[in-house]
Amino acid sequence: MGADYTNITDRSEGLRVSILGGGSAYTPGLIEGFIRQKHKVPLKELVLMDIDGEKLETVGSLVSRMVEKELPGVRVTLTGDRARAIRGMDFILCQIRVGGLAARHVDESVPLRFGVIGQETTGPGGFSMALRTIPVMVEIAREIEALNPSAWLINYTNPTGLVAEAIKRTSNIKHISICDEPMVLQESLASFLKVPPEKLFFDYFGLNHLAWARRVFLQGKDILPELRRAVREVPFEKIEPLFGEEVLKDPKVRMELENTLRIFVETGMLPSPYLQYYFFTDEILSYQRKTGKTRAQEVMELEKDLLSEYRLVTQGVRALEIRRGGKWHADMMVGMLGAIASDTREVYIVNVPNRGSIPDLPYEKIVEVPALVDAGGAHPLAAGRMPKEVRGLIQAVAAYEELTVEAALEGSYEKALQALGCHPLVPSRTVARKILDAYLDEHREYLPQFRSKTS
Ligand code: G6P
Ligand code: MN
Repeated sequence: MGADYTNITDRSEGLRVSILGGGSAYTPGLIEGFIRQKHKVPLKELVLMDIDGEKLETVGSLVSRMVEKELPGVRVTLTGDRARAIRGMDFILCQIRVGGLAARHVDESVPLRFGVIGQETTGPGGFSMALRTIPVMVEIAREIEALNPSAWLINYTNPTGLVAEAIKRTSNIKHISICDEPMVLQESLASFLKVPPEKLFFDYFGLNHLAWARRVFLQGKDILPELRRAVREVPFEKIEPLFGEEVLKDPKVRMELENTLRIFVETGMLPSPYLQYYFFTDEILSYQRKTGKTRAQEVMELEKDLLSEYRLVTQGVRALEIRRGGKWHADMMVGMLGAIASDTREVYIVNVPNRGSIPDLPYEKIVEVPALVDAGGAHPLAAGRMPKEVRGLIQAVAAYEELTVEAALEGSYEKALQALGCHPLVPSRTVARKILDAYLDEHREYLPQFRSKTS
């Protein structure tokens, strides 16, 4: 008896999509992505779920207005009930921030007290974020497994690689974790070269926020050697304007671009901008000390302005001009969702179980590599062995990530200490212990898995 394939899910009348953390300032930008791609990825229902009622109301009102205008017929629901946002959905997008920006501020400020850089996802900051985010994400995955196992979870909650690893270890749901950085790299290079992004193929390997494009093909030719020569010969001041006005206005963005180009010239491979934290650690530490403000504090101010801007847009006082997150983030998200829904088998760089794609990393480890995305999920392409000049760094961070996931799941102080101690940005076990103890103390309310061991 053969299976009946005549009744494959018909999604032609539109998809049911929910967003956990829907009250985020990023949501309107994401909805614009659905609007831009409404013919490729038609919606039927949109559910925004958030535990912050006020933000949900502000962002949700704007989203309802956008949908009414541009996606007539799509039903929008705002809810504080997670089960409501899970049941019956085709796709559940997840962008939560456990503890909000206040917790991010703690993540970023604690390491600075001990002479270590404070960053949202890299180093101790990302470690702390993982400890408090993983238990919640595991709970969500289990809820999806129980209430709606045929749904897809598309996760971009940070630290995305570690979250992906924890979900993979604890559930069997259909899930892909993503980050916009690879897309940003591809799109900015394409616009720099003035070619359509789909003309470029990125031979890309690594972990989330710790990856390189080792070759970039344009019409069959690797263009990186030539590009490297050009970048080496032209002073940065001449290159910067090519990346647009925005770059010149913001000293942080400018520093990031310069650092990224330096790493490119040094390694011959195009790096994730997050590699600057490893290559220019001292410079970044003094920059962070000098600014005297964490990125979390900057984003808090930015978000306040954005939310009041959103209110004005909802009232019809002005058009939506500023938003959080780039266009590319939304396009990647919606495009990938379309590739899954219509089974089109497109290449996206995503976070997936390795399965031998990078032979120098464990088989089950979550890696960030190009994958074919279709209705069966993300199938990693072979990324190959890593060049030895960066292999050690990536392997060390991979071990740190594995230990961090285990520590977060088990509430193990010992593993947490080993994890931090393994991280290349943490100079000693003494410092690791001090940072860990400070986090366990300041984040006590978000780390129930450690509570019995520390009180
Ligand atoms: C990029 C990264 C995200 C990160 C964000 C931080 O988009 O890929 O993972 O969360 O930057 O931006 P922010 O403005 O919050 O510092
Ligand atoms: Mn990211």
